Order: sequence, then C-alpha cells, then structure tokens
Amino acid sequence: MINFSDQLMNDAGSIARSAGELILKLSVRKRQISYKSARDMVTEVDQASENYIVSEINRLYPEHEILAEESGESSNTSPYRWIIDPLDGTTNFVHGFPVFAVSIGVEFEDILFAAAVYDPNREELFTAGKGRGAFLNGEPISVSNTKELGKSLLATGFSYFNDDYFKLNMELWASIYGKTQGLRRAGSAAIDLAWLACGRLDGLWEFSLKPWDIAAGALLVMEAGGFVSGPRGETLDLNTGHIIAANPSIHPHIIEEIDIFKHRL
Ligand code: IPD
Ligand code: CA
Ligand code: CA
Repeated sequence: MINFSDQLMNDAGSIARSAGELILKLSVRKRQISYKSARDMVTEVDQASENYIVSEINRLYPEHEILAEESGESSNTSPYRWIIDPLDGTTNFVHGFPVFAVSIGVEFEDILFAAAVYDPNREELFTAGKGRGAFLNGEPISVSNTKELGKSLLATGFSYFNDDYFKLNMELWASIYGKTQGLRRAGSAAIDLAWLACGRLDGLWEFSLKPWDIAAGALLVMEAGGFVSGPRGETLDLNTGHIIAANPSIHPHIIEEIDIFKHRL
C-alpha cells in the first residue's frame, strides 16, 4: 500500500529527474548560444532549475514550506518542509566535470521523511522514504559491508573559503589518508552521499555544509543501512552542516580519527 512518504519520495524523484534533464538541456544550449562568463551561466542554470522545482512543489503541495538555496525560505507554515539544492556541484558543472546533481529532501516535523538525488549525467535517480528503504532507479540499495578502515574508500569535500574548516580538513585529510585505501574529493556532497548509500564509497565527512547539500543524501544513507551523525557521533544537525556518514563498521573509525580535531568544530 502506498503511504505518504512513498508519495513524497515519488514526487521528489520525478521533480528532481525533470530538473536534472533541464540542467543538461540548458548547459548545451548556453554553450551554443553565448560565451558569457561561466559564473553567469551557472547562475542562470541554478536559477532555472530552482524555479522549476519550486513551481512544481507549489503546484502539488501549495501549503508546504520550502527552503531553497537560491531563493531562501518560503513564508508558509507547515509541518512539511522541502529542502532544495537545484544544482549541487556547481564548480564541476561549470567545467563540464560530470559530477553534479539535483538534491531534494522533505522533512516532516523536522525529521527527514523523503529524499531524491538525481544525477543527470548517469541517469541515476536515488530515492528514499523514511522507514521504506533507499533505491537507485527503483531498485533497493544498501551501504557497503567493508569492515576495516584500511580497506575503505572515503570521501570528503572542502568549502569554497580558505577558512578554519578548510585548514582543519586539510590536516584531517593528511592524517587519515594513509590509513585508508583512498580518499576522494569529487565536488558534490549530494553525489558523495548517494554513492555511499549504494556502496561505491564506505564513508565520508565534511564540515560546514548547508542543509540543502545534505538533507536528501543523509536520508538516503540512513535508509540504505548507514549511520549519519555529527562529528562527535551526535544527531546530525543540518544547520551546523558538519556530517559524518558511513557504513556501520566504518562510522566509528571516522569519529575516532576526528576526535583529536573536535575542539576546533
Ligand atoms: C558544494 C558541493 C561541494 C561541497 C561544497 C558545497 P554547490 O555545493 O556540495 O561538494 O564541498 O561545500 O558548497 O555550491 O556546488 O551547490
Ligand atoms: Ca550544494
Ligand atoms: Ca547548489
């Protein structure tokens, strides 16, 4: 029987897919028509994707709240809140590096309830519903069962600014690198979380992200059997944006590696 989290998951999924298709279409057209600065192009594409997503949500669920990267918070008051990154991986998109996604999470009473991350380059739609599991193009997915840090492939990301979190994360990268099988910095937190959910990565961490970078991906990982927390193992706080996510065996290892840095978070 279809329940409301299934319905929101399906709607978030089809909106994310259409937004991703729009992004690819606009990127081709923009390159053909004009050679504006890369930043202008991306702003227009981000905005077009967000406009489409917001208009679809308003059409389907006019009473729901929305928090979107480009336009901020809507004025509605509802227990449901949609959290949107219309294009995660902007720098990659600008360079034609094919790692970017649309990320749409839905909360109910501040609990993550439904999620969709769409990767238009691979035509991969990741979805999850609270208590309903996580899916890739409709097929159930789960996190990896890599048990040892030495056999793990981990990912992280760096903020755009040369701030304290950037410096901290460079140190953490150096200290953890040799203990794993490899670290990756692909440039899209939403893709990192989706790839963790389907077992392509074993764990990840990142600091000072925004709610729209991680809302959908965090639910994907939890529903795929992974652990998601803050840097001390506490409940994830979308507002601080510090996230540790991994399969259940690797998660405690990442927390342990961060332990000596935690006073800086
Ligand atoms: C960025 C990506 C990146 C992360 C940055 C984010 P944006 O989002 O998720 O992986 O390291 O901190 O800001 O700007 O491309 O939507
Ligand atoms: Ca983002
Ligand atoms: Ca974005």
